[in-house]
Amino acid sequence: MEKKFKRTTVTSALPYANGPVHIGHLAGVYVPADIYVRYLRLKDEEVLFVGGSDEHGVPVTQRARKEGITPQDVVDRYHNIIKESFKEFGISFDVYSRTTSEEHHKFASDFFRKLYDEGKLVEQSTMQFYDEKTGKFLTDRDVVGECPYCHKQAYGNQCEEGCGRALEPTELINPRSKETGETPVLRETKNWYLPLNEYQQWLKEWILEGHKEWRPNVYGQCKSWLDMDLQPRAMTRDLDWGIPVPVEGANGKVLYVWFDAPIGYISNTKELCDNEPERWGSWEKWWQDEDTRLLHFIGKDNIVFHCIIFPTMMKAHGGYVMPDNVPSNEFLNLEDDKISTSRNWAVWLHEYLVDFPGKQDVLRYVLTANAPETKDNNFTWRDFQARNNNELVAVYGNFVNRALVLTHKYFDGKVPACGELTDYDKATIAEFMDVKAEVEKLLDTFKFREAQKEAMNLARIGNKYLADTEPWKLAKTDMERVGTILNLSLQLAANLAIAFEPFLPFSSEKLRGMLGMETFEWNQLGSTDLLAADHQLGKAELLFEKIEDSAIDAQMQRLEDIKKANEAANYKAEPVKPLVSFEDWEKLDIRVGTVLECERVPKMKKLLKFKIADGLADRTIVSGIAEHYAPEELVGKQVLFIANFAPRQFKNGLVSEGMILSAENFDGSLAVTSLLREVKPGSQVV
Ligand code: MF3
Ligand code: ZN
Repeated sequence: MEKKFKRTTVTSALPYANGPVHIGHLAGVYVPADIYVRYLRLKDEEVLFVGGSDEHGVPVTQRARKEGITPQDVVDRYHNIIKESFKEFGISFDVYSRTTSEEHHKFASDFFRKLYDEGKLVEQSTMQFYDEKTGKFLTDRDVVGECPYCHKQAYGNQCEEGCGRALEPTELINPRSKETGETPVLRETKNWYLPLNEYQQWLKEWILEGHKEWRPNVYGQCKSWLDMDLQPRAMTRDLDWGIPVPVEGANGKVLYVWFDAPIGYISNTKELCDNEPERWGSWEKWWQDEDTRLLHFIGKDNIVFHCIIFPTMMKAHGGYVMPDNVPSNEFLNLEDDKISTSRNWAVWLHEYLVDFPGKQDVLRYVLTANAPETKDNNFTWRDFQARNNNELVAVYGNFVNRALVLTHKYFDGKVPACGELTDYDKATIAEFMDVKAEVEKLLDTFKFREAQKEAMNLARIGNKYLADTEPWKLAKTDMERVGTILNLSLQLAANLAIAFEPFLPFSSEKLRGMLGMETFEWNQLGSTDLLAADHQLGKAELLFEKIEDSAIDAQMQRLEDIKKANEAANYKAEPVKPLVSFEDWEKLDIRVGTVLECERVPKMKKLLKFKIADGLADRTIVSGIAEHYAPEELVGKQVLFIANFAPRQFKNGLVSEGMILSAENFDGSLAVTSLLREVKPGSQVV
């Protein structure tokens, strides 16, 4: 039987503060979590929404090293940018703190110490790579070398560019420190491990037996972990950025970032509760009370940490409730390509707001409509535009606007009385009363995509109702009927403000303002009495605006430029061809020619036909560069050509007497060779 809970603690993965956040973060974790929390709040349920920045870990130190600043500088910068982006997009955290806070350091330290004191951790010594130049142990990703399987460059934990295999750093051929290039040496080091193997049976029962309702992707990943033998996992690392291991003789060691970060959920809760105890009560209530339902919103790369490791930590510690569900999403791609911070292949939230100010809800809408709930999904700018123009503007915005404008026109903006209902009216009402139960069912099972579709369905019902009843045609003859139609339409609009609040909070607020709605709660959904007759409406404004092609073209161009820049950055010159002798070289007769005429060749879209002054009798050369130059660009220019190239005849009879030399750029584009100084046509290249 399903358990009834008194309250819900919702966590959303703490993003690494090593860069800004992008649409993938929003779609995968924060928008769904926010929808869910807003929904519970509207239902007047007791809920806590915890967020924060994950400020330890290797990615932060790597960024610091790359930029030549301290890790603290890095996290200070990005914590603020990330926090601001979330605020701008209406992600309504009750607390958003950080894992570098003093509060958190103490909490995580104490948590570790308790496990240590109670003998819940296992001490193990291993051999690990050590860089003698810096005097530091190297994490698996700090070691690079040749993959023993495919012989490409690989990291110590994985061959990313080649065969994809998981590796041990000691397997690498010719291992080197990524930072210094030094050959590392193996040294013994002692760390503390969480014996996951001792908890395997409990995990199996708790998840595989007890939570068959979890999303298939989550359940499936857990199952594949639990079908293998779990191994003890190190909870400490030889690093200098992180929370010092609170054990004697552990100098130079810190807590594993995946140990401290999830504890951040708890310490952030404590921070909030300590600051506002009247409002929130004790932190224990949110984490240790059997009546509290714990939910973790995460992305798929976080599943093992939230379903296996963190629960085991809490179980070993004792006293904590286990997550009741872990709604994890798959990944969102951008224009069919994996989102990547290092390749700058992303739509950054802070940049989006510069290009589309005030359009937070449009992005929220599109990301939910394409939410990667069951499989990876794709964001494209064309789809973004289409969903805005064809759904938000044409359906939701249009319906609301018509209802309001007509009421202002015929009834001075006062809600008209509802007269007698026709059968058609009744059928329409019956249809939209169903929406509440439908949306609830979907939200309760974390199907946000479908739930939003249902909410949009309300607006479709409204649009159809207005189109079918055509109140503007009745205005001369039957004002009472017009009043009834508009009354119902306005009630429907008020329903929309409620139904969309979890999804599109900014638009809902605007709509509430236009309708002058006072009360506002989920339970009113489906009611036709939300606005009393004679109630004065506010001013009608557009809820959404059309997005023009030019705005989308600009985004596509930006991505195109990034792709180009990435290709250029990755370009490696071809290996050199076999050596040739001086005699071989002398056989080629390369000369300078001046372009006298240049024109396209009919029906041959790659070819340009040149007349070249060569200091002799002039000559005709045909060259396949028409896609790279306009003919007029080249007239008058000096080019290099091979003068003793055997003449070549084209299909259409054209004969080319030589070959113009071009360089092929990394992207396949051609650049004609020229000289730094003008010379007489026919001069030889020597
Ligand atoms: N920083 C991690 C990531 O971005 C998520 C940490 S979630 C927490 O993948 F539970 F550890 F906080
Ligand atoms: Zn490989």
